[in-house]
Amino acid sequence: LDPRLKAITSSIRVVPNFPKPGIMFNDITTLLLKPKVFKDAIDMFVERYKGMHIDAVAGIEARGFIFGPPIALALNAKFVPLRKPKKLPGEVISEKYVLEYGKDCLEMHVGALQAHERVLIIDDLVATGGTLSAAISLIERAGAEVVECACLLGIPKFNDSCKVNGKPVHFLVDCLM
Ligand code: PRP
Ligand code: MG
Repeated sequence: LDPRLKAITSSIRVVPNFPKPGIMFNDITTLLLKPKVFKDAIDMFVERYKGMHIDAVAGIEARGFIFGPPIALALNAKFVPLRKPKKLPGEVISEKYVLEYGKDCLEMHVGALQAHERVLIIDDLVATGGTLSAAISLIERAGAEVVECACLLGIPKFNDSCKVNGKPVHFLVDCLM
């Protein structure tokens, strides 16, 4: 086991009953307060994906915007924001999805990705996989290829061989329940 994972796990705060009763909220903002641990997490993703010819990192608003850009820069890849509705000014494609606590939609600029580009999707955590599924659809509708989805946290019932929409999902540590 990579010793960095212990520090990553212990730097995530669990807030019970947020944003509504029964939800155990895994809060990554406490990890961001520790530059060494934050950097270790970024480095672990970069080590996995360097040499895999990633053309673009697609980050999911909002928390995928924290981890995506440093990974993109380290991989010398472009960063493509997948945004919540009505935030992007240009022509967009949209995908609706269902969340644990509500409904939402992701949008991507037309022209952000070229056909056949190899894309890594980044978010902070995977729970039901609904958000990642919408992100995968957007990228595939643009004709690009999803290499993998990567998150800091995943629920334990997902394992490293788990797939969403046929695409592999990798995460560093189990969600704290
Ligand atoms: C959270 C989390 C993931 C998503 C995971 O985002 O950051 O993006 O839920 O859930 P799922 O696997 O069940 O789809 P959320 O939209 O709550 O808020 P955010 O804008 O703070 O990232
Ligand atoms: Mg999110």
